Amino acid sequence: CGIVGYIGTDDSKEILLRGLEKLEYRGYDSAGIALLNQEGIHIFKEKGRIQDLRRVVDPAIQAGVGIGHTRWATHGKPSKTNAHPHQSASGRFVIVHNGVIENYEQLKNEYLADVPLQSDTDTEVVVQLVERFANEGLPAFDAFRRTLRLLKGSYAFALLDKEDKGTIYVAKNKSPLLVGLGDGFKVVASDAMAMLQLTNQFVELMDQETVIVRKDHIEIYALDGTKIERKPFTAQLDASDIEKGTYPHYMLKEIEEQPLVIRKIIQAYRNERGELAVDPEIQRALHEADRIYIIACGTSYHAGLVGKHYLEKLAKIPVEVHLSSEFAYQMPLISEKPLFIFISQSGETADSRAVLVKVKELGYPALTITNVPGSTLSREADYTLLLHAGPEIAVASTKAYTAQLAVLAVLAEVIAKSRSRQSGVDMARELGIVANAMETVCGSKDEFEQIAREYLDSAQNAFFIGRTLDYAVCLEGALKLKEISYIHAEGFAAGELKHGPIALIEDGTPVFALATQARVNLNIRGNVKEVVARGANPCIISMDGLAQDGDRFILPEVHPLLTPLISVIPLQYIAYYAALHRGCDVDKPRNLAKSVTVE
Ligand code: G6P
Repeated sequence: CGIVGYIGTDDSKEILLRGLEKLEYRGYDSAGIALLNQEGIHIFKEKGRIQDLRRVVDPAIQAGVGIGHTRWATHGKPSKTNAHPHQSASGRFVIVHNGVIENYEQLKNEYLADVPLQSDTDTEVVVQLVERFANEGLPAFDAFRRTLRLLKGSYAFALLDKEDKGTIYVAKNKSPLLVGLGDGFKVVASDAMAMLQLTNQFVELMDQETVIVRKDHIEIYALDGTKIERKPFTAQLDASDIEKGTYPHYMLKEIEEQPLVIRKIIQAYRNERGELAVDPEIQRALHEADRIYIIACGTSYHAGLVGKHYLEKLAKIPVEVHLSSEFAYQMPLISEKPLFIFISQSGETADSRAVLVKVKELGYPALTITNVPGSTLSREADYTLLLHAGPEIAVASTKAYTAQLAVLAVLAEVIAKSRSRQSGVDMARELGIVANAMETVCGSKDEFEQIAREYLDSAQNAFFIGRTLDYAVCLEGALKLKEISYIHAEGFAAGELKHGPIALIEDGTPVFALATQARVNLNIRGNVKEVVARGANPCIISMDGLAQDGDRFILPEVHPLLTPLISVIPLQYIAYYAALHRGCDVDKPRNLAKSVTVE
């Protein structure tokens, strides 16, 4: 979910709606805003997107104060009733919330047995509690803080009080929240991106902090009432980075930015002597580690699977790759000197953060590889490596994936060099070759559109097969396709087909096979024959030097370890066009959110 707030002299409506549009990547099941003016509180909510909300907002209402929310449903299905803002029984308070209150049932039973609740959400309980305590005589801010002290779980809140038209109350615990400063106005947002049009000065909030936000100043307090002073930082984002420009979709723009991103990474990780380098502290942390644990979700997990090859082959450190949501509840045996590497585009994924919190409790070192400087996972880990990919807006991750691979390759190479003083790979040069090869592949997008049409326009399902590094990319290719086109897609280790999955092959089943690895080229060719013999419609994507007659697309040759950076591109395009041909919402696929800030 994402939240916004504005207090100032301009009309808040449009500011809130625009801010929410920028936050739609965090969820888009339903949305709402609350406006506060002399007449009182006006709430507008709608199921669906911000554009749906726009249609129901009364253009005649002007208000200098407002809060808004875009939702990714956790408690309660997506509906107008469950959409935020939520209002207290008498109508005095309204609240928006990002996060999950774990003990809301208990609080409801304990304090609100006599209050009829309007929605099924954990959030409504919070606003009703504030009112209950205010009715008992507490001033609004005290009633809010008393409520906060009862809550277990994660939250970023913005609260309005009808009886105080000059204040937004804000609180944060485990969910991201920033307060933005302007001359004569203040804003609140889950992500600086939402308010960048208005200001680039933001104050970061820490867990269990509350803020009184007025148009001319803010006051930050700890939950126990201690006042906190904090300087703002300048958000480094450029508003133009988050525009689509001439592209029809962010996803297409982001696919085509990949060569540029790789070049930026080469630049960003060069030292004065022109050699690839990382912070010496990070280098030391890797040297000291006897085992690396990569923790990630979704596409970032798939990047981790490739990263394992890099770190093991080049840096010679054993690596385990784990899904955050599994690792958090079933820790494997940990080695004596572990290093944890968190891979996360957003740096906000709650599943990963839950692991980071445990890792820190256990006293282990942690490195975060993320696209977002200052994100929660970056702040809370000991070290950070940035992806330099620029904001990624499309829900389906593309350029962040290849950036993750490139940064992992750089890291592995730097460690390899520092260990043996020589290494077989000139990584800066090889990544430069990759960037050029990416451009060539992007130049063939018409071919990928054709492939999508031929293989997927009437497909019910599709399989992606490969071996070794290609297998890792197949998992990502299948994820892209299922995420945005809703075609059932799976990635399989090609050698494993005969042990089960081959039963799924029918006449005409599309099977995408990657063949970029010399060592297993003959094996994958054999596996393709096996599926063809059962009726599959194969699409082989191979690489110069390994190609055979009948291959559908031949990638330019790159270093064998770096093939995932280019073999994924056809799969990204194929998913894009398959989704487009089906009329799907490419950038905002159903049921998903880009940044999942709940466990
Ligand atoms: C969500 C997104 C995925 C993403 C995953 C991990 O599920 O829809 O695209 O890969 O979160 O996100 P992160 O920001 O931690 O890389």
